[in-house]
Amino acid sequence: MAIQIKNLSYTYLKKTPNEVEALHNVSLEIPENKITAIVGHTGSGKSTLIQTLNGLITPTSGTIEFKDFVITNKEKKNKRIKELRKHISIVFQFPEYQLFEETVEKDVAFGLKNYGFKENEAIEKAHEALAKVGIDESFYKRSPFELSGGEKRRVAIAGILAIDPEVLILDEPTAGLDPVGSKIILDLIFELNKNGKTIILVTHDMDIVLNHADHVIVINDGAIAFEGKPSRLFSDDVSNYSIEIPQLFKFCKLLESHNVKIDIDKIRTIDDLVDQLRSRHG
Ligand SMILES: Nc1ncnc2c1ncn2[C@@H]1O[C@H](COP(=O)(O)OP(=O)(O)OP(=O)(O)O)[C@@H](O)[C@H]1O
Ligand SMILES: [Mg+2]
Repeated sequence: MAIQIKNLSYTYLKKTPNEVEALHNVSLEIPENKITAIVGHTGSGKSTLIQTLNGLITPTSGTIEFKDFVITNKEKKNKRIKELRKHISIVFQFPEYQLFEETVEKDVAFGLKNYGFKENEAIEKAHEALAKVGIDESFYKRSPFELSGGEKRRVAIAGILAIDPEVLILDEPTAGLDPVGSKIILDLIFELNKNGKTIILVTHDMDIVLNHADHVIVINDGAIAFEGKPSRLFSDDVSNYSIEIPQLFKFCKLLESHNVKIDIDKIRTIDDLVDQLRSRHG
């Protein structure tokens, strides 16, 4: 297991009249080298959960374990957080919060310098990371604040890639992007996973979950409502979770109800369905 979460709770504004218990007694395992999707209605606790995973917020109670790192509610014990963030990195829901340097290349190089790389090495690695996300040289000296939403997100991802963490967490990486922009980001994420990275993806897009997630976690009002394979989730009653069952999955269920023999657990894309129909029905 890449990450073990045990009895995790988190309360915002604790001991004030406005306190909100955003996570309640969450226990989870995030599998290594897989794509795990985290879904659930707005305000359910997804962003809070992922921010606890690399110590951006300290649990109110419970623990998070990754290799020999442990995060608990005892701030003093969490001294290795900076080191942990080299292994588990987050691309935030609003990438503009992540960008702050005067040029794109400096922004991507920032994290590397923080980890002790010299300026020229950091810039060189930043250029490599920018190439991976499809941002060319003409952007290097531009201000990150003057980019489009999709470009900002790619620069934010490059900043994380440059650090080369084992676990990449992306909070709604395609929100607000057009289909081409979304595809560029998603293809990049899946490529990274193929090359061995553990991916945690917060998303409201169930097509992404069906097409790409190995494992899916549903959070409902700060608690885990479901954990398992996407095909099992979509076969469940999801009416309470603000989840839209993908059209492809509905169509497969319809075929099954008409006695068309398909192996629904292995169908992630239309091509998978077509292949199965071809091989079974000549
Ligand atoms: N900084 C904060 N201060 C106080 N309450 C907060 C804060 N951030 C989030 N909350 C509350 O905690 C709960 C969980 O919020 P969170 O941002 O984790 O939800 P989410 O599942 O990521 O939602 P979305 O899909 O809208 O991004 C919500 O009730 C929210 O209002
Ligand atoms: Mg969120």
